[in-house]
Amino acid sequence: MAVLMKGKSLASLRDLSREEIEEILKTSELLKLQNLRGQDHPLLKGKTLAMIFEKPSTRTRVSFEVGMWQLGGYALYLSASDLQLGRGETIGDTAQTLSRYVHGIMARVFSHQTILDLIKYSRVPVINGLSDFSHPCQALADLFTIYEKKGKLSGLRFAYVGDGNNVAHSLLYGCAKLGVNITVASPKGYQPHPEVVSYAKDEAKRNGSEVIVTEDPIEAVKGADVIYTDVWTSMGMEKEREERVKTFRPYQVNTKLTRHAKVDYLFMHCLPAHRGEEVVDEVADSPNSVIFDQAENRLHTQKALLALIL
Ligand code: CP
Ligand code: NVA
Repeated sequence: MAVLMKGKSLASLRDLSREEIEEILKTSELLKLQNLRGQDHPLLKGKTLAMIFEKPSTRTRVSFEVGMWQLGGYALYLSASDLQLGRGETIGDTAQTLSRYVHGIMARVFSHQTILDLIKYSRVPVINGLSDFSHPCQALADLFTIYEKKGKLSGLRFAYVGDGNNVAHSLLYGCAKLGVNITVASPKGYQPHPEVVSYAKDEAKRNGSEVIVTEDPIEAVKGADVIYTDVWTSMGMEKEREERVKTFRPYQVNTKLTRHAKVDYLFMHCLPAHRGEEVVDEVADSPNSVIFDQAENRLHTQKALLALIL
């Protein structure tokens, strides 16, 4: 049966069913192939996307902008501080106004509530381009990358080592929904949100996989097909940096740690990386590393998402 997603917003991967995620991955494969062959695919001709940024970005901004252009549409970069939002106009009024001009809104925000408010007041689909709670577009690209490299998802062993942050939350949802076994190793006080873990555990059970949260990075990495890490200090948490660097030191992904994984493990990172902190060059630049494939796949998976929902 066809999966219909027109008009759907994406705050977190929790909002998508397994079938919907699979449809996005299937569409990504097709669009990536068309792109490689230089075939035009103007699926969003005449459509526009407003992109609100409260935080900096390299990958998200460029991949959405280029993606809309490749689909025959147009994307507008809107820095939150240049919008009237910066002078106190409400999110509700902003969402209602933008809905009169554009076909979709993508937003990168500090508070996840801002995404939920945009969705509440907008008449057009809203995509979360990263909030303090989740980063669904990243996880879609990551799952697609794993599928490309390993030829399957279900049954693989995925180890996330580091901060139980927005990226970890999205990977927990995504892995659980697609039957990937996921173990998250984070220090006490920095583990993923208990509600996310408990939802992911239920989903995983339904899909024949397992979700484990531990403080032990070696336990997580043992026999892993994928090792994933992210920065120890996310955007907006800069004041905690010094303390975090100390706490997370034993969670660095280095050659000693990766020896516990399968020989053909994939090293993944959403980027930007703080080399020398959460990962060392020797791992990030090793043949096991697929970090730039992940970055590239942001383009293909977001184009698929846009084509399906706008
Ligand atoms: N991974 C990611 O979202 O990168 P940017 O912050 O550069 O957009
Ligand atoms: N967890 C990081 C991801 C950056 C893409 C952050 O929120 O800064």
